[in-house]
Amino acid sequence: MTAGAAVRTRVGIVGAGPAGLMLSHLLHLEGIESIVLEAHTRDYVEHRIRAGLMEHFSVELLRDAGVGARMDREGLVHHGIVLRFGGRSHRIPVTDLTGKSMMIYGQHEVVKDLIAARLAAGGQILFEAEAIGIDDIHADQPRIHFRHHGREQQIECDFIAGCDGFHGICRPALPEGSLTVYDKIYPFGWLGILADVAPSSDELVYANHERGYALLTMRSPKISRLYLQCAPDEDAGAWSDEEIWAELQTRLGDDAGFVLKVGPILQKGVTAMRSYVVEPLRHGRLFLLGDAAHIVPPTGAKGMNLAFADVVVLSRALTGWYRGRGGDGLEDYSATALRRVWKAERFSWWLTSLMHRFEHATPFERRMQAAELDYVTSSPAAMTTLAENYVGLPLG
Ligand code: FAD
Ligand code: DHB
Repeated sequence: MTAGAAVRTRVGIVGAGPAGLMLSHLLHLEGIESIVLEAHTRDYVEHRIRAGLMEHFSVELLRDAGVGARMDREGLVHHGIVLRFGGRSHRIPVTDLTGKSMMIYGQHEVVKDLIAARLAAGGQILFEAEAIGIDDIHADQPRIHFRHHGREQQIECDFIAGCDGFHGICRPALPEGSLTVYDKIYPFGWLGILADVAPSSDELVYANHERGYALLTMRSPKISRLYLQCAPDEDAGAWSDEEIWAELQTRLGDDAGFVLKVGPILQKGVTAMRSYVVEPLRHGRLFLLGDAAHIVPPTGAKGMNLAFADVVVLSRALTGWYRGRGGDGLEDYSATALRRVWKAERFSWWLTSLMHRFEHATPFERRMQAAELDYVTSSPAAMTTLAENYVGLPLG
């Protein structure tokens, strides 16, 4: 690869999503310097609407890391969720069952808070800096090649953190055969909207309807976020606003006469549904974190939370290494992170299977789904299982 000017840092981080920014921040708190490369502009990453539900662990992480003040002012604390099917609503009292709560706070708000914290501390985030290759991951000084303002440059570092999402370059840069891939594609997608209207429910409503799944969630007391199960290749533009609201009302409606508040649709888009994991998460001095290593279907909102869990495991391991406590944590990173990853993969797959309409399901499979919905909303043990996974499992 052509050599350009080389910059030196301890940890070179590719990607300024939740994973890369949180890793840079946690390392900074331990006195470990890093540089974050981000292909897009700051404005773009600060306005990209994605996840919105934070597990108890993520909420505590933001607070403990000193970046939770705005979340505590503006976020919405939630203590339960509603499962709706057969015209009836069933509340799962998550806090009563687990002693923990969730927080609604948009991923883009977390990203804004982390960027502000990094820049205020003099941290280096290079926006519009696209990583184009990595080298020497099995040597002591791996390198990241990147293009910034049309100029090719390099970062020379002790470790590379691949936090560059599903479409990044770090995972594909690994030699073929070095990764085991686990992949499952679902036969549907989600049409998501952001709407300028107060949420129609104080708590999230997950609906299993014969026409397909729907979810009512929110971003603030004035902004609603709603999703509809759709075809994986659905054209969001083919739906008029009236059609979207009518379909949401049908699927979210219940025998008690639930009426959805409607308002101007600010954004709409289709998300594909996939479960995906690669193993291992470490290759020499390259570590994969977050969406670069694993994807969950959005049901249950585990994506950003899992990215944070990886970050905590790696930042502890790197801190141990720099403090002279050896490389055991780095050796164990992949296995430790994957234990939590697989449990979140299981839960996201299970909740997806429970709540969606599977077009080709047999009559027997439909009865199994109905029986499971009945069980999970009537057995305290089953409700507790749902609740402890939903609010988030412990890190270890
Ligand atoms: P990302 O947030 O993807 O960050 C990766 C960053 O790397 C990006 O900023 C990207 O621009 C940058 N990058 C990529 N390649 C390069 C390169 N070559 N050089 C430099 N930078 C690069 N999860 C939920 O829980 N609930 C949801 O409702 C939900 N909705 C989603 C909707 C969409 C459309 C998508 C794509 C994801 C959604 N997710 C959702 C998942 C969740 O948002 C992710 O799990 C989370 O963003 C993972 O964070 P990350 O930092 O690992 O990756
Ligand atoms: C959100 C998305 C989800 O998939 C979910 O299960 C809960 C909340 C959200 O976007 O707020």
